[in-house]
Amino acid sequence: MENFDIILALSRMALNGDEERVAHQIARLRNALNESAPDQAKKLEKLLERQKRRQDVAPMALEQMRGRRAGLQLPGETLSRSTPLPTDRETGAPLVRLLFPDDRDAPAPILGPELEAAIADQLMEWDRVEDLARMGVKPNMRCLLYGAPGVGKTLLARFIGRQLCLPIVEARLDGLVSSFLGTTARNIGALFDFADRYRCILFLDEFDAIAKARDDSQEVGEIKRVVNTLLQCLDGRNVQGFTLAATNHEHLLDPAVWRRFEARIRIPKPQSETRTAMLRRFLAPVQLSDSEMRMLVWLTEGMSGADLETLITGGKRYLVLHSKEIRRARVQGEPTQAVLLSALRRQATLNALLFDDYRHELLLRSDDALLDALIENAGLTQTEAARVLGVSQSTVSRRLRSHDQDGALQERTPQG
Ligand SMILES: Nc1ncnc2c1ncn2[C@@H]1O[C@H](COP(=O)(O)OP(=O)(O)OP(=O)(O)O)[C@@H](O)[C@H]1O
Ligand SMILES: [Mg+2]
Repeated sequence: MENFDIILALSRMALNGDEERVAHQIARLRNALNESAPDQAKKLEKLLERQKRRQDVAPMALEQMRGRRAGLQLPGETLSRSTPLPTDRETGAPLVRLLFPDDRDAPAPILGPELEAAIADQLMEWDRVEDLARMGVKPNMRCLLYGAPGVGKTLLARFIGRQLCLPIVEARLDGLVSSFLGTTARNIGALFDFADRYRCILFLDEFDAIAKARDDSQEVGEIKRVVNTLLQCLDGRNVQGFTLAATNHEHLLDPAVWRRFEARIRIPKPQSETRTAMLRRFLAPVQLSDSEMRMLVWLTEGMSGADLETLITGGKRYLVLHSKEIRRARVQGEPTQAVLLSALRRQATLNALLFDDYRHELLLRSDDALLDALIENAGLTQTEAARVLGVSQSTVSRRLRSHDQDGALQERTPQG
């Protein structure tokens, strides 16, 4: 039977449950059928495309954990949407916001394999309280998330809440810190009293606000009292419930507060693989070619998840606003390959701080330098670079040749 070796390999991979290799064997079969049975090859191609789209949308370990029920049993009353919230006595503003597990679902954060595995373990830990008790240990009940702005700390904290199927009592500490320090201590007390009474996760966002108040204030004694209140409340809460905190100024935290958290999880800026997954999520339903994606991933180095989202949202707006021109050019047979580049240039103009200085300069000032960088640093071939820049291959070769000549000329010209 023709192609039996591929079918054999495919069957073996399928039985081993190795999805990636199964896809590879299907691609081999498609290639083998391309000439002799193009219709069948096309069907296989469709299957592969569908699979790829599915992976693009949900590639992470955390996503696969959705919907599992946590076994974390906490004491306390049940929170409902009508439960009266604690308020600031001076202003009457509520001190917390309630989020319920069945509230609108945000997608799981994309964090990179190592961190996702660690968070998945942490979730499992809270699911296996009894097994842990047999070993004489308790699950960790206090978790501090820290990292640069926009890396997904708030998103992760809310995700953990949903995974544990518990309502989240969310308090932004910057809103809780009053100009009257006495009021601040009272607000902290009221917040913890509320959270301790109910079965919930307490999430303290912008956790550094307390520490900042300490630096800003002259009233050293008063601030000490506020920090002490916080420490006591955190200690008291350990037996009662689960606490998450997030900050992007971890260095400002009082060492005693820092020590109260058994897990201190740093959320880094996304590396290139993680950026690829994020970009795919934000780009959907827009699809980019492989070389466009590599250019985009390289140009977005140093950006947070929030930056990537801002960039792509802006890019989509650009696509909509310019869709007529793009379509017209396509109909008239003009090149439209550089749409991504034009969209990026527009974003670099509207939102200069998104890109680092070097990449910003490359995007806005110099075609030649961008071309060099794409080939030398982003790993594009000359053909790919020509396509993403919307120029012909011969233009690229000419430019590169003239660079070489310039370089040779400079070497020959005596300096000084
Ligand atoms: N790791 C991520 N995975 C997916 N989306 C992300 C990620 N990080 C950021 N985003 C996107 O950026 C938005 C803002 O992220 P989020 O508010 O969680 O950041 P943060 O770390 O809490 O920032 P800040 O320090 O400013 O409070 C998210 O709602 C999400 O759309
Ligand atoms: Mg946040």
